[in-house]
Amino acid sequence: MSKSSHFHPLEFNPTTGEPFLALPAPYENIIITPPRLSDAPAIILSMSDPAIYTFLEGPPFPYLPEHADQWLSRIKQETDAAIETLRRANEEKPDEPPIFLEQSPVRIIREVRDDGSDLFLGDIMFVRERYPDLDDKELKETVLQRNAARDLGDPEIVWCIGDFLASSHHGKGIMTAAIKTFIYEWAVPRMGVRQIRVETFSDNAGSRRVFEKLGFTYEKTVAIRKTLNSGRTIDGMDVLCWEAK
Ligand SMILES: CC(C)(COP(=O)(O)OP(=O)(O)OC[C@H]1O[C@@H](n2cnc3c(N)ncnc32)[C@H](O)[C@@H]1OP(=O)(O)O)[C@@H](O)C(=O)NCCC(=O)NCCS
Repeated sequence: MSKSSHFHPLEFNPTTGEPFLALPAPYENIIITPPRLSDAPAIILSMSDPAIYTFLEGPPFPYLPEHADQWLSRIKQETDAAIETLRRANEEKPDEPPIFLEQSPVRIIREVRDDGSDLFLGDIMFVRERYPDLDDKELKETVLQRNAARDLGDPEIVWCIGDFLASSHHGKGIMTAAIKTFIYEWAVPRMGVRQIRVETFSDNAGSRRVFEKLGFTYEKTVAIRKTLNSGRTIDGMDVLCWEAK
C-alpha cells in the first residue's frame, strides 16, 4: 500500500503495511491503529479490570473470550472497509481532495516499544451521538433519527466519543493526547466533525477531566439511575460539549 493523499495524515508501518496515526511529542511512542484479532487477550484483561469496567455501560460482564472476538471482528470489518474505501479513492480520484469517511480506519491506541513491538493500550470510538442520557423514548428516537439522517459532512451532526485505556497507563496524559490528535488530525478534517457531545458517569472524575482539558464545556448533570452489566448502579451522567471554532 503506498502512502497517498486520501490516507492523509496516516502513516504506514514499513514492515506490516498497517496504517497508523502518530501522536506528537512527548507521546511519539503512542500510535492509533486499526484493531487486530490478536488484541483479544488484552481487551479481556481491560474489560475485567474494575478501574475500567466500573465506568463503562456497554461491555458485557463478565467479559468472555467470545465477547472480545465478536467485538473485534465487528470493528475490524468497519476499519477494513474504511481502509478499502481510501485505497479505492486513491485509485479512482487521485487528484481530488481527501474524501470524508463516516468510519475511521484507526481507533486502537498502542505503545510502540524500543524493539519495534507494540502494546495494546485502549480504544477511541467515534460515532454519531446516541443520547444515552435521554429518558423520554419518543424524544430520543426523534433526535437520533434527525442526527442519523444528516449527510456526512453536515456541520450539524453531533458526534460522540467512547474510550478506555489500560489502567497500567492511566494518569500520564495519554488519553487526552490521543483524543486531541484524533479530533484535530482525523475527525475534523476527514470526518467533517464540528460538534461533539459526551457523557461520563457523574463519579468518573478522570474522564470528565480529560474532556475538560480538551476544551469541552460542562453542560449539565442528568439524574439517571441505571444498573450496569457489572451490577453497579449509577445515579447520574455529566454531559459535556465541544464545538469546532
Ligand atoms: C478516563 C480515562 C480514559 C483517562 O485516561 P488517562 O490517559 O488516564 O487520562 P489523562 O492522563 O489524559 O487525564 C486524566 C486526568 O484526570 C485526572 N483524574 C484521574 N482520576 C481522577 C479522580 N478520581 N479525581 C479527579 N481527577 C482525576 C488526572 O489527574 C488527569 O488530570 P490532570 O492531567 O489535570 O492531572 C481512563 O482513566 C480510563 O480508561 N478509565 C476507564 C474507562 C473510562 O472511564 N472511559 C471513559 C468513559 S466516559
